[in-house]
Amino acid sequence: MKGVLLSGGTGSRLRPITHTGPKQLVPVANKPVLEYAIEDLKEAGVTEIGVVLGHKGREEIQELLGDGSKYGVDITYIVQGNPLGLAHAAGCARDFVGDDDFVMYLGDNILKQGISELVESFQQGDYGAGIALQEVDNPTQFGIANVDDDGNVTELIEKPDDPPTNLALIGIYVFSNAVFDVIERLEPSWRGELEITDAIQTLLEDGNAINSHVVRGWWKDTGKPEDILEANRLVLEDKDLAREGRIDPGATVQGRVELHETATIEAGATVRGPVSIAENSVIESGTYVGPYTSIGPNSTLEGVHLENSVVIGDSTISTTGKIVDSLLGRGANVGRADELLPEGRRLVVGENSQLKL
Ligand code: G1P
Repeated sequence: MKGVLLSGGTGSRLRPITHTGPKQLVPVANKPVLEYAIEDLKEAGVTEIGVVLGHKGREEIQELLGDGSKYGVDITYIVQGNPLGLAHAAGCARDFVGDDDFVMYLGDNILKQGISELVESFQQGDYGAGIALQEVDNPTQFGIANVDDDGNVTELIEKPDDPPTNLALIGIYVFSNAVFDVIERLEPSWRGELEITDAIQTLLEDGNAINSHVVRGWWKDTGKPEDILEANRLVLEDKDLAREGRIDPGATVQGRVELHETATIEAGATVRGPVSIAENSVIESGTYVGPYTSIGPNSTLEGVHLENSVVIGDSTISTTGKIVDSLLGRGANVGRADELLPEGRRLVVGENSQLKL
């Protein structure tokens, strides 16, 4: 069993964060989203992984993952070039996969329980594909599966107008080698893409059984800023958080707080977990860091009240106001305006930024 990890896409819904890097490298609880996928594949026994790269962020992804040895896996890079759909991306991995079966994992997904059960249940039968499903509130925005009373998959439809169920394909699939011939026969959908959902439907019509597995535990597609905040909240809730850094006498630290050995919480600061604070970051006196916040490396917080937020890193935040539910890109600085005249807020805001003042 090989792994095919899709890491292309433009990340348009995560702009401006993705103007300078791929969406799969946005950190959740101070770890890039893509690393969660590598860990899930490895845990399921899949250690030969082909990472399919689009146009965006190729160098950054290769720099982070390298040859995979730091994760105990073996990584091969595959260039997709033009983004012609998920089935096209899978088709680009044909030479890499060879005669094997493979897991295809969309690199911007995070899920609590990993993928071992999906892989094992596919391996226990003779299936053309295995699909991971979860109920969603907005089924018109996903690939949807129809399943009969015995749990057999009877139909797959990409973004249906009139969904027969609310069981969404969550973006993690297992395929037999038969899918590659099907992909070669696919026609583009209404959105001009070769849809992986259509490939699975064709496998079904060709007489292949499709294994389905409803994923317990949470799953998040991290395509939008609010998804990153939610994934951050979910991961911080579950993760073991180790306090290794310096906590000065006179600092208040409550609950579970991950503090890198080079990070500091100074006297007069309050941190209430779950929180993650990465290397070389400093929480200064008068600062409050509230639950579900991750602060990336090399950042200084000077007096701000910050909660339910992700600071990607290399930031200084010295406003004395409250910042909640926020995603701050690398190098973002939020300063004070209260001593400046004329009074007012001063903004240098990148394209596609979102501010609520
Ligand atoms: C893609 C797939 C869809 C699947 C979804 C999971 O949608 O086409 O079938 O349900 O990923 O995140 P897209 O993100 O391209 O809209």
